[in-house]
Amino acid sequence: MPDDNRVREVYRPTDIRTGMALEELRREYAQIQGVYEAAIREINARLQTLDSEFSFKYMHNPIHHIESRVKSLNSVIMKLHAMGYPISISCAKKTLHDIAGVRVVCRYVDDIYKIADLLLAQDDISLIFKKNYIENPKPNGYRSLHIVVDVPVYMSQGKLFIPVEIQIRTVAMDFWATLEHGIRYKSKDAVPQSIVDELRACADVITETDYKMQKIFQALQTVSDREDESPEALVREEGE
Ligand code: GTP
Ligand code: MG
Repeated sequence: MPDDNRVREVYRPTDIRTGMALEELRREYAQIQGVYEAAIREINARLQTLDSEFSFKYMHNPIHHIESRVKSLNSVIMKLHAMGYPISISCAKKTLHDIAGVRVVCRYVDDIYKIADLLLAQDDISLIFKKNYIENPKPNGYRSLHIVVDVPVYMSQGKLFIPVEIQIRTVAMDFWATLEHGIRYKSKDAVPQSIVDELRACADVITETDYKMQKIFQALQTVSDREDESPEALVREEGE
């Protein structure tokens, strides 16, 4: 998260373009944060419901864990500045689709698509856009499915549709992304090409392992399905 000193470099005590003091901006942001928090709670609740249903029906939890955050005001300021937009809350609401962010870490690649499809099938959730970095990884090796959805939030003034960026990835993809992010942010200068190449090679190994693990899981599931159908299982059931 950018510290206050970096923010002060781009946002003077009173911004020249908007004439608004930083403190005023902080107050205005605090007011809308609650709405984005509510949108995150809504998405989390729906994801947890899907996960529990899977666990009950198929004895499998597709979701390993969920992380979420509302973007800090410092990050909002730095992002608007980097994009060359005026630094105001109304501009942030219009242009930033990741003020509310949820990261869903799944066990297997198949789980990612199951979760995304089931969430998008809910009739009050609408897809704003999708970026599939699993089918089309970034050149550095980054993989994840990103969707931005509008979710309804009921506030005292009525129903609001709030955008939430949802990153869905496997434990393996998350492992790579977390370490790569750390490496990139640790080095003050650009990461040397040799390290970029090594990170890409690691991402390729991780991709291969991800699909191997999924195959192992599917093979074991098929065996246990067959066991359930076996005469021994039927006898067991009859005897119960
Ligand atoms: P942002 O300005 O960062 O929101 O990027 P964007 O608007 O081009 O969207 P994109 O979908 O590419 O990335 C959004 C988010 O995905 C980032 O904020 C990161 O959390 C994650 N992400 C994207 N690319 C990478 C990457 O190369 N490495 C890691 N570790 N995370 C990434
Ligand atoms: Mg972002």
